[in-house]
Amino acid sequence: MGRLLGRHGKVQRHMPSAHNRIHVMHGVNLDQIGRRDPAHYGSMTFLQLEQAIDGYADEAGFDARFFQTNHEGEFVEELHRVSDLADGVIVNAGAWSHYSRAIGDALQFTGVPAVEVHISDVMAREPWRHVSVLAENCIATVSGKGVAGYRDAFAILLDALGT
Ligand code: DQA
Repeated sequence: MGRLLGRHGKVQRHMPSAHNRIHVMHGVNLDQIGRRDPAHYGSMTFLQLEQAIDGYADEAGFDARFFQTNHEGEFVEELHRVSDLADGVIVNAGAWSHYSRAIGDALQFTGVPAVEVHISDVMAREPWRHVSVLAENCIATVSGKGVAGYRDAFAILLDALGT
């Protein structure tokens, strides 16, 4: 096993060929999380969020890599290449989750299982957030569990990938 550097400069601990690479993709406004309503999102900065997710990945035996953009086309293009990068994907597409048929379509042919995560409880918020146009192309949706929802997403992927 080579010395592969992960996002936070750590040496990857797990074999990269063991179906354990998870791409964690954040969409629009997630980079601003520390400035958003703490009642919904807590007070973590985006860096802290990614570090917490990286910890959950380690616990589950996964190597996580991270991607964030505020540009829908970039998000779609990253989904186009995801099967070259990872064995599974965790997607929190922010507001796009509720209306981007382009992202929903792209999720249909990634070739790897996807889990949708929302930090806040979208079903307890405004009606427009109750709809996800991504859910039908994801194996599961985790919502309203705060940052710990990403831990649940790794557990679901562990099951799905049989790693
Ligand atoms: C979110 C929920 C969305 O409704 C919202 O637009 C976001 C974040 C969440 O993580 O709770 O940007 O996906």
